[in-house]
Amino acid sequence: MITLLSHLSHVEIATPDVEASVVFYEERLGLREVGRDGRKAYLRSWGDYTHHSVVISEGPEPALVEIGWRTTSPEALEEAARRVEEAGVAGEWSDSGPGRGRSYVFTGPWGHTIRLAWDIEQYRADDEHASVFPDRPEKRSSVAGAPRFLDHVTIAASDVKAFAKWHHDVLGFRIMAYTELDEAPITVFAVITTNEKSHDLGVVLDSSSRPGRINHYAFWVDTREELLIAADVLMENGTHIEYGPSIHGIGEQSFLYFRDPSGLRIEVNTGGYRNYVPDWEANTWKPSTGSNNLYRNGAMPMSMTESFPPDEGHPTATEEGIVPGTEEALLNPYGKHGQG
Ligand SMILES: [Fe+2]
Repeated sequence: MITLLSHLSHVEIATPDVEASVVFYEERLGLREVGRDGRKAYLRSWGDYTHHSVVISEGPEPALVEIGWRTTSPEALEEAARRVEEAGVAGEWSDSGPGRGRSYVFTGPWGHTIRLAWDIEQYRADDEHASVFPDRPEKRSSVAGAPRFLDHVTIAASDVKAFAKWHHDVLGFRIMAYTELDEAPITVFAVITTNEKSHDLGVVLDSSSRPGRINHYAFWVDTREELLIAADVLMENGTHIEYGPSIHGIGEQSFLYFRDPSGLRIEVNTGGYRNYVPDWEANTWKPSTGSNNLYRNGAMPMSMTESFPPDEGHPTATEEGIVPGTEEALLNPYGKHGQG
């Protein structure tokens, strides 16, 4: 198969309060609004090469609207669409949209809307935002610890291995690692990638009845020092740090998790290895081997198991804290050492 996808191009999320989210992303993370289209705001990190990387839409609850991938060529877009339809999924072509040309949109077997496009507008800074360095799409943000670009997205699905296999078979993702519970042979996490990163798409096990959920999406900073400064800035301005800073075993990235104003989880991450092995065979980790926490010395907060939109029938945590009784391993699909 030719390489079909090149990288994650955008994530569109829903929130009940678009304005509150835009203010948060601009003031705390240094993203910048570059467009408005009805009830959608288009934002970018300073190092994103594309016109925008985050779309914030109005919706009744925090949720994933769509994930955008750029293909490697116009031919790859046609081939990817052909393969999706061959797999029994009917998508549709869209002739244009903000920052892009023709694209192919489909809802995958686990309910996530995916948009594939080749013709994506590259960002061209005006004089006010232009960098002095030719390869930078925009000057560095003046917000301390501001991420350089969108990095990955982690969704929730009812069958982690089947989700990974579908994306491998149909769209050519490499499967990089699995996590299986210590207590039972249940696969609760997988990471897959379109490129040399350990992952640009993660999947956590979803035991809810709601399809198409998201667990978090993530931005990249260049150094661990910037990640620590980002944590500091967030703390100083009233944003609770949900988990981290620490280092994942899988991927070996430094990580930091917190929530945006809608409650949706965001990660900032950096570091980790690059993997170019074309026939890489995924290892299976266990939480006890450090899949999520390289140091194997800290439990992941139960709140990290929440995906979005919330599962009203089976909440594990509320604003007041963990729901009594949900600490049990059976309701923590990630095991006592956690997974993210
Ligand atoms: Fe992540």
